[in-house]
Amino acid sequence: MKIELLSPKEAQVLPKKHEAKGLFVTATGTDMGKTYVTALLVRALRQAGYSAGYYKAALSGAQSVEQSDAGYVDRIAGIGQEKELLLSYWYKNAVSPHLAARWEENPARLEKILRDYRAVCSRYEYVTVEGSGGIVCPIRWDEEKHLLLEEIVKAMGLGAVVVADAGLGTINAAVLTVEYLRSRRIPVRGVILNRYSGGEMQEDNLRMIEALSGVPVIALVADGDRELNCPGETLKALYE
Ligand SMILES: Nc1ncnc2c1ncn2[C@@H]1O[C@H](COP(=O)(O)OP(=O)(O)OP(=O)(O)O)[C@@H](O)[C@H]1O
Ligand SMILES: [Mg+2]
Repeated sequence: MKIELLSPKEAQVLPKKHEAKGLFVTATGTDMGKTYVTALLVRALRQAGYSAGYYKAALSGAQSVEQSDAGYVDRIAGIGQEKELLLSYWYKNAVSPHLAARWEENPARLEKILRDYRAVCSRYEYVTVEGSGGIVCPIRWDEEKHLLLEEIVKAMGLGAVVVADAGLGTINAAVLTVEYLRSRRIPVRGVILNRYSGGEMQEDNLRMIEALSGVPVIALVADGDRELNCPGETLKALYE
């Protein structure tokens, strides 16, 4: 597989001005609640008085930026971020970014993604980067180049949190995702269980995910939650 190599200049991801801190939000799959949880995360940071922004490298299946994940997080978290700074590639077709990129003839470039990410970092102190789909996600796959989501995360030097559903099947999905991230040397800071409603099975899921993955469950998000139940200091530490 061809991997885009970074020039020394490109590899210097963190901007000098702010020393921004980033966090990558992934999930056990698509539609697990990355956007929902990211909005609560960024909102909680902002409510705690921190400068916090959002970035997504490639988004597919939205008809406008406002209706997209980026628009949602911007609204719910009250960021007021410039549209151009929210995301780099926006595809209309609701398929994996690599396929949408092919259909729409707009292949993603790592250099542009890193440049855009740096621009967000120069504006905000805490930058939450939402992934596309789960952790195994081709962003570009054509004759010229192959680019996987994980390569973008590595190039940005980010640690990750994993959003997983609280219910049946989550032990397998969460542990597999954590192990995959580890195999790629992406540090995993924690798991967030979404649509948590309590009860013996879900409480056991939480304990088993922690026991089998060695990663703490750092927050529980219930259906319809408007706030993230997690102290500002704990949140901040995820970005270190
Ligand atoms: N805790 C929750 N309470 C209410 N609705 C939720 C919750 N979590 C997720 N949803 C809803 O479920 C849907 C899927 O969630 P979301 O868009 O956050 O998933 P995602 O992982 O970001 O998906 P994608 O892979 O497309 O980016 C959305 O309509 C979202 O509003
Ligand atoms: Mg999303």
